[in-house]
Amino acid sequence: MPSEKFKLAVLVSGRGSNLQAIIDSIEKNNLAAEISLILSNVPDAYALERGKKHGIESVFLDPKSFSNRDDYEKQMIELLRSIDLVCLAGFMRILGKKFIEAFSGKIINIHPSLLPAFPGLNVQEKALEHGVKFSGCTVHFVNEEVDGGAIILQAAVPILDEDDAQSLSRRILEQEHIIYPEAIRLIIEDNLEFSGRRVTRKTRGN
Ligand code: GAR
Repeated sequence: MPSEKFKLAVLVSGRGSNLQAIIDSIEKNNLAAEISLILSNVPDAYALERGKKHGIESVFLDPKSFSNRDDYEKQMIELLRSIDLVCLAGFMRILGKKFIEAFSGKIINIHPSLLPAFPGLNVQEKALEHGVKFSGCTVHFVNEEVDGGAIILQAAVPILDEDDAQSLSRRILEQEHIIYPEAIRLIIEDNLEFSGRRVTRKTRGN
């Protein structure tokens, strides 16, 4: 009997270009996984359209229809109960302790800076204001500290003198689309080992 596919859920709030990169990797057989669910906290997130185009169950879960965050996240946990890995891809909502505990070690996020520099929002503007010469992107495990979990992969992007936030975002995004599917692949293939905060590959040199 064929073994069951690794089940991903992708949580989104907007455009969904990282979601698209994950879908494309799966369709090119670079990721032995299926996306079982796309979940958005924003009704008109374009990511939902992308999901539907590819025949993936794509759901808007309205935070306003719950009286508090705990109840909202309880419903999320219910929807995600058979998922192997929860991938945040531009999901602009901070997750609570109970949700994070329910999927301990099974939630990852992509962030458009070289963490621990510039966590939070508007990070390209912050990188430009600070005057750093490199920024980039980070895929990391999610813990209770915002953008603070153990780092899986990063890609550096040089900041050019002529950059503004838009041009820098664009070049960082290109790298996001490479490292996010790659980080998911490392997890699916059980190719990561952990020593404190340090995450390395079991199979070195590739
Ligand atoms: C991406 O740049 C992602 O790194 C960022 O939102 C964008 C979503 O784009 N995420 C965060 O800032 C999370 N802190 P996308 O919807 O096209 O994937």
